[in-house]
This record gives sequence, C-alpha cells and structure tokens, in this order.
Amino acid sequence: MHVFTNRPEISNAVAKHKENGSKIGFVPTMGALHRGHASLFNFALQKCDVVVVSIFVNPTQFNNSQDLETYPRDLQADLELLENINPNLIVFAPSTTTIYGTNIESIDYNFDGLDTVMEGAFRPGHFEGVATVLKYLFEIVQPHFAFFGEKDYQQLQIVNKLVAIEKLPVEIIGCPISRHDDGLAESSRNMRLTHNHREIAPFIYSTLLKAKELFDDKGIEEIHHFVTNAFAESALLKLEYFEIANARTLEHTVAKRANESYRAFIAVFAGDVRLIDNIALN
Ligand code: PAJ
Repeated sequence: MHVFTNRPEISNAVAKHKENGSKIGFVPTMGALHRGHASLFNFALQKCDVVVVSIFVNPTQFNNSQDLETYPRDLQADLELLENINPNLIVFAPSTTTIYGTNIESIDYNFDGLDTVMEGAFRPGHFEGVATVLKYLFEIVQPHFAFFGEKDYQQLQIVNKLVAIEKLPVEIIGCPISRHDDGLAESSRNMRLTHNHREIAPFIYSTLLKAKELFDDKGIEEIHHFVTNAFAESALLKLEYFEIANARTLEHTVAKRANESYRAFIAVFAGDVRLIDNIALN
C-alpha cells in the first residue's frame, strides 16, 4: 500500500492515474478508523478505479485544544485496517505544516446559516475548520468523487455548499450510516463508553425510529415532546438537542410542508461521551 506524506508526491501519483483514464475517489478521515469509515472505502472502491484515503487530524475544526490533544491517533492500526480492506488503497497522511504551512487558521465562509444550527451552534467555528481543510485536501488530491457519511449529515451539507462556493470540480457522494447490529451508529467514540452506557446507547436510534413512525401523522411539537420525555426518563443518557429540520436547508421545522424532505437530528451525552445520530423522516 502506498503511503504519501507530502504534496508533490501524492499529486503526481494521482495525476498519473488520471492520465491512464482512471476515476479517482477520495475519502477524507481523521484516522481512528472503524467499520463506519470502512463502509465509505467500500462505496468508493465500487465506484472508482483508484481510491485515496486521507488521515489527518485537522486542528482548525477543534474548538477545544484538549479535544485536539486527546483525539485518538494510531497510524499503524489504521494502515493495517486499510491494508486488510484493499492493499491498492492510496493513503495520504500529511503533517499539519504540509497542509497549513505556518498559518493554522480557517478561511471565513458564508454558509447561509447551515453552519450555525445544531452541531455548529454547539461547536462554533467547527465547520469553517472542516471546510478549510477539505478545500486544501481537494486541491492536493484533485479527485473526481469524494465520499462522506450521512452520520455527519450537517457536515455533508456544508461540503456540498463548499463545493458550490469554491466551484470545485468534484462530485460529492453521501453514504448511509453504518450501524452496529443493535442500531448504534459506528463511531470512534463508542470505544470510550462504559459497559452500562454501551448497553443503553442503542436507545438513541430506537427513539429516532419511533420519531420517524410518529412523523407520518403527528405534529412536530408532539414528536419533540415524545423524545424529550423519553430521555427525561433515562438515568444514563442526557439529551443535548433533538431537532427536526429541513433536509436541504437544515432550517428548524415548525410545520411540515408538501414536497420537502425532513430529517431528525440528535445529540446525547452518555456520561462524558457525546454521541450524534440522525434519520430521514420522509
Ligand atoms: P471522521 O470523523 O474521521 O469521519 C470521516 C468520514 O467517515 C466522515 O465522512 C464521516 O461522516 C464518516 N463516518 C463516520 N462514522 C460513520 C458511520 N457510522 N457511517 C457512515 N459514515 C461514517 O468527519 C471527519 O472525520 C472530518 O471532519 C473530515 C471530513 C475528515 C475533515 O477533517
């Protein structure tokens, strides 16, 4: 498996594959790879001839320096997981200087409010950091397609907006959420759950499924009450937010309108581990 750390080498390698007519797929990650990431690599491998995976813990998307320091890093384990999936994957694992030089700062973007709700409201500056690193990575890798998980649905919408703003020549593909058998969305944070929190955590997804069922014939307010009450009764899970939003604009919904798609979004604390999930409602 090829592992590149600097810009000219990865750019040249990709350019050579493009000259041969290969379709290039790209899956950006921050490492600590798990089955959720693996599902994206498999989608990319199905659609593209050559797949590049980046592993880079992006400093500008952390609004808390302790989170950045404690973010799990194990390149060796990540490379083993990738090798087992497909030894032809190309890995790009740059240093912070390679991506940012000496200017570790986000670009100012106007995302028309997509970045100020939900995750954006709780993590100021987070999405500008995400967009900045992706702009740089897209410019280096120059893929035809880039793959993102619906697990981070708001991030996926930000990426679509970034591509429109910067007129980047890449097609963004959203991939479904990969879940454990009991419904819990795969996440590197799940490893940090205590036994009791891990046992109760599938309640997050089962509550989203009930919200989806209610969506057919109940009002938005009633669904909010149902979810809030369900979590109020849980001793181990603490609801941070539950939101029903327009799937395109992410605007808070008060009443359903015909011909619009809606999604429910949730953030929950299981002890000190913050878990997010979402579901399409119609
Ligand atoms: P990271 O959290 O490593 O996630 C990388 C990709 O894996 C994202 O597109 C995320 O949505 C997807 N993913 C994670 N868990 C998933 C699951 N259970 N099912 C499906 N997809 C899943 O997201 C980031 O990194 C960063 O913000 C990044 C885009 C790399 C920019 O730094």
